[in-house]
Amino acid sequence: MISSNVSLKKYNTFGIEVLAKGFASFSSVENLHTLIDEHAQFNYEALLILGGGSNVLFTHNFNGLVLKNNIDGIKVMHDDDTHVLVQVGAGVNWHAFVLHCIENNWAGVENLSLIPGNVGASPLQNIGAYGVELKDVFYALDAFHLYEKTTVKFTRSDCAFGYRESVFKGKFKNQFVITSVTFKLNKTPIFNISYGAIAQALELMKISTLSIKAISDAVISIRQSKLPDPAIIGNAGSFFKNPTIAVKQYEHLKADYPEMPGYFSSKDDALAQVKIPAGWLIEQCGYKGFRKGDAGVYKLQALVLVNYGQATGFEIFELSTEIIASVLQRFGIGLEREVNVI
Ligand code: FAD
Ligand code: EPU
Repeated sequence: MISSNVSLKKYNTFGIEVLAKGFASFSSVENLHTLIDEHAQFNYEALLILGGGSNVLFTHNFNGLVLKNNIDGIKVMHDDDTHVLVQVGAGVNWHAFVLHCIENNWAGVENLSLIPGNVGASPLQNIGAYGVELKDVFYALDAFHLYEKTTVKFTRSDCAFGYRESVFKGKFKNQFVITSVTFKLNKTPIFNISYGAIAQALELMKISTLSIKAISDAVISIRQSKLPDPAIIGNAGSFFKNPTIAVKQYEHLKADYPEMPGYFSSKDDALAQVKIPAGWLIEQCGYKGFRKGDAGVYKLQALVLVNYGQATGFEIFELSTEIIASVLQRFGIGLEREVNVI
């Protein structure tokens, strides 16, 4: 059933108050199909598929139909001595899925603990954290084409995953609804604690025997220490991507800013690019902890923009524009928004 003029405040983790002209949820592909047919009949201007709303910024009322994905279910498709293939409904909460894997001793997603949102959105920006990306455990997905009304299977190479990128953010933007994702998980864990802070957190927690549960706990504690909980302060995680620049530009900048951090993509300088933490650039421009009305930059992590309560999406967007201009002027580096602005 489609409802009219529904507030989206509780459906986005920024807590922005906007109205959707139409709103409905679906819990199966058949359900989705019916709603899309109704949508055509009502002639709404646009369609928006929503998961947990943890990576969107609404800047105005949505003059279209919002379809909230509630497709449930976790199903083992194949199980052998080394791997398990698990198909997960797009509406399953991501962290609930991670906990389910840990309980079953399926390794691979523990470093991605506590990322908000649903499984269905996870391929969209190839979610990543603490040295692991979704593509590392991805096997396949099913997606429903909004116009041809057929289900299409995508393998890993079809998705063209990159850093916070996939075909669903690129050439197929707004064309498919991801309905399930299949993961390939390991029976024997390959522990990944190379991301500095994990080893430190394990030590602090006095954990001597490594396990996927221990890594998950360590990641959870690091995340809780620096990222704002959307239930308390509205946010959508990192607002910008970490930019990549040429080695030459990095060397020039290093001469002026010797402390500037940078991560080389290759040991060979001729091939390498350097990733710069955007949080550092924003902090250097004086924005860490900055607040204008109810829009602000989080005091513990400059890459996260926050809504202290009553900010509008447009105010947060304007703040992001001001930050982009400031970083560009000082460092000659263009920041790109990671959050989906609607
Ligand atoms: P939504 O916000 O609902 O949607 C995001 C986009 O995907 C929208 O464009 C929407 O239209 C589209 N979409 C959603 N579902 C579907 C579907 N089924 N089919 C097609 N399109 C769809 N991200 C990281 O990568 N790493 C992190 O460490 C991380 N940390 C975060 C920490 C916090 C505190 C917060 C608030 C966010 C963080 N994020 C992180 C961002 C966010 O959690 C992820 O991008 C997540 O995958 C978004 O899921 P969602 O269901 O909330 O998507
Ligand atoms: N830094 C600062 N000041 C800040 C914040 C960061 O100087 O205020 C510098 C420090 O040098 C720090 C470095 O940035 O060592 C990296 O910071 P952090 O480890 O917090 O990670 P990040 O690069 O800011 C990225 C992802 C996060 C992910 C973490 C952990 C992006 C855009 N963000 O953040 O993803 O959880 O690494 O792997 O790649 C998200 O996408 O929403 C998100 C939270």
